[in-house]
Amino acid sequence: MSDTTLSPLDEAGVATAVDEALAAIANAGSLAELKEVRLAHAADASPLAGANRQIKNLEPSQKAQAGKRVGQARGRVNKAIAERESTLQAEAAERMLIEETVDVTVKPNRFPAGARHPIGLLMDDIADFFSSMGWQIAEGPEIEHEWYNFDALNFGPDHPARQMQDTFFVDAPGSHLVMRTHTSPVQARTLLNQAPPVYVACPGKVFRSDQLDATHAPVFHQVEGLAVDKGLTMAHLKGTLDHFAKWMFGEEAHTRLRPSYFPFTEPSAELDLWFPAKKGGAGWIEWGGCGMVHPNVLRACGIDPEVYTGFAFGMGIERGVMLRHDIDDMRDMVEGDQRFTAQFGPTSHGRGV
Ligand code: PHE
Repeated sequence: MSDTTLSPLDEAGVATAVDEALAAIANAGSLAELKEVRLAHAADASPLAGANRQIKNLEPSQKAQAGKRVGQARGRVNKAIAERESTLQAEAAERMLIEETVDVTVKPNRFPAGARHPIGLLMDDIADFFSSMGWQIAEGPEIEHEWYNFDALNFGPDHPARQMQDTFFVDAPGSHLVMRTHTSPVQARTLLNQAPPVYVACPGKVFRSDQLDATHAPVFHQVEGLAVDKGLTMAHLKGTLDHFAKWMFGEEAHTRLRPSYFPFTEPSAELDLWFPAKKGGAGWIEWGGCGMVHPNVLRACGIDPEVYTGFAFGMGIERGVMLRHDIDDMRDMVEGDQRFTAQFGPTSHGRGV
């Protein structure tokens, strides 16, 4: 339809143009469609705008009626467009609210926070315990020279204890390196570095060629204690062990010593723990080894055994974690299952002395 075809005098034609415009407006399903409808039915190129332009050329007697007719027609169309526009705008806003809604109840897709392993936590706590008594904390290498792991500790070259300890030898011919089988080499390292009095605790990893089962692992942890001073006796050793046992396992806990043998202590003893919370009733549990530092060890480190004496002890950390947390199977501690470690949390066990 061109703008010249609709006459302002054509009453039916104007009415049809209005009807067509209103129908198109009602059909516009979006603001973009409504824009097209406006161009076709209301803008300059529309039949009604064309009819409006012709009014000025009419006979004066016809102008008023034609002007009213076309003006009303355009008014209706413009009003319908405005109404449709606000309806479509409201719908668009509504749709945007729904489509762009943020669901604050959706679970965030974050990586779960890790948890420190109970063995590391207990080793830290044990270090705090010994520090609080004025002891120092010492560490040594996990790949150790045979001399520190055995010779300095009075193991003879063919001493059966070298085999007893299921040593992992590091495969470099002539290197004399081993994965340390206990934390006792840190005794020798400390005594060579430091003149008595010496009071040190040495927590760390140790290695033995054991199969992994419910009670053994080829990699485990020990804490070593070493005191060298004038006048130290087994009474000091026993007192230290009892104090440590109570801090670890409660007021009722204490220790007992059974005669045993280690090349680096004399006398030597197996260390048992009276564990009040033992399943099936309080009872004795093997906890570690201990003794008075052998004079040969003191001599190997340049210390005069006629002037100084010392005591030493070593125990497994895993055993401590298992007893404190009622864990039955060693394998739970080495499998690295985050659900296992998460139970202990960074601060879930006591820290007091
Ligand atoms: N090193 C010994 C072991 O691993 C324990 C021990 C430490 C014994 C200190 C006596 C003195 O079995």
